[in-house]
Amino acid sequence: MNFKSHLDEFEVFSKVAQAALNLGLETYLVGGYVRDLILKRNSKDIDFTCIGSGIKLAEEVAKQFDYHVPVSVFKNFGTAMVKLEDWELEFVGARKESYRLESRKPIVENGTLLEDLERRDFTINAMAISLNQADFGSILDPFDGLVDIKKKIIRTPLDPSITFSDDPFRMLRAIRFAAQLDFDIDPDTFFAITENASRLKIVSAERIIVELNKIILVKKPSYGFKLLFASKLLHEFFPEMVDLQGVDSVDDKSHKDNFYHTLQVLDNVCQVSDDLYLRWAAILHDIAKPATKRFNPKVGWTFHGHEDKGARMVPEIFRRLKLPMDDRMKYVQKLVRLHLRPIALVKDEVTDSALRRLLFDAGDDIEDLMKLCRADVTSKNNKKVKRYLENFDRVDQKLLEVEEKDQMRNFQPPISGEEIMEIFNLEPSKIVGEIKEEIKEAILEGKIHNNPIEARELMFSIAKKKGLEPQNKSPK
Ligand code: CTP
Repeated sequence: MNFKSHLDEFEVFSKVAQAALNLGLETYLVGGYVRDLILKRNSKDIDFTCIGSGIKLAEEVAKQFDYHVPVSVFKNFGTAMVKLEDWELEFVGARKESYRLESRKPIVENGTLLEDLERRDFTINAMAISLNQADFGSILDPFDGLVDIKKKIIRTPLDPSITFSDDPFRMLRAIRFAAQLDFDIDPDTFFAITENASRLKIVSAERIIVELNKIILVKKPSYGFKLLFASKLLHEFFPEMVDLQGVDSVDDKSHKDNFYHTLQVLDNVCQVSDDLYLRWAAILHDIAKPATKRFNPKVGWTFHGHEDKGARMVPEIFRRLKLPMDDRMKYVQKLVRLHLRPIALVKDEVTDSALRRLLFDAGDDIEDLMKLCRADVTSKNNKKVKRYLENFDRVDQKLLEVEEKDQMRNFQPPISGEEIMEIFNLEPSKIVGEIKEEIKEAILEGKIHNNPIEARELMFSIAKKKGLEPQNKSPK
């Protein structure tokens, strides 16, 4: 296998090769770029390793261009970065590293190419392509990465317990690559993950969430989660999800396994949306089922209130996992809280007021909520699935009709608090809020229409009951 024609295609490689020649430095293309090239995945991050100083090489590369090319130097790490159009080039000298047990900080020394490659995480990431004149474009593959790509296997170049104890974060990377590439993990490598899972404790939550989100963003994330669960890595950072697993039975009555149900819902959502946080809503929609599980001899297993409790659990889970504590968290919380509501609207005799209330509560997230509800249908009985999904079509239709009439999605109070204060000469106070709330309730209940004229009329009658008189000033 030779990559000369690929290297000839892009100027950047000939410039690096020229710089390496000028300095007399053996230089190679390494890591993820080589892997992705073989897998025909597009990548714009390129790692170069030379036998010598990566910083000097980067500076020489910049000189090859007749315009100014900035070089960022990270002296402490002995690396340098060059940004060229949309390419990001990283230069480093080949090194051997050894890690102390309780720290991620390696002891680094200069090394040979082989020493550099063998300290990498997986065989598929431990290949190099030569940029040297003698064998320009040829591949060096000392750990059979090409065979593993062909066999679709994630395997460590060294004894996996060494590779993982060097950097426990790699255990998570193994599962992330397996999930992204749809590869298996070599049995010895996987066994070592199960043995070393508890060492994930020394990895920061910030790094873990980056990998976890990559797993969640693949086409079918259930596979990655099953590996996380089976290896017990999931237990280290997401015990609430682990608790979903298992089936209890009393008097021959059992409930479904909520872990596998959740994964099915997640996969279903992934078929209709790439949105990371809708996917998180799927992961968390039943998260409070273990905490709310009860057995009632008459009806069997119940999970009353799991949607509310689940919504209350969301901020703490987001905070601990270092997910964003902003509108994205609130969005997930909202979907978790509302995920049972559309089911209640399936019945024929459902009132417009119930539909208005859902539109009011869901706002612009109503479509996403309906996607989540559809994904939540995981029965194995196809007839049932068909019936449930048709029910949701009817709910969609009803929601559409009510929205057309009443515009509840982005409900704005038809009378503002300022207006109420001005008309009745009030200071900001509880009573203003009460009047606004009564008007909103009347609109949701369908007692008045959502317009300022009817709202004003109602405002005067509510105020009168509260003993308020208008102050003869017309509002601005
Ligand atoms: N690497 C490693 N151990 C790690 C991280 C990285 O051995 N914990 C090595 C691998 O050889 C990897 C290379 O460093 O290919 C570059 O790492 P990085 O840029 O993080 O990942 P990529 O492999 O390029 O893949 P991705 O961009 O998908 O993360």
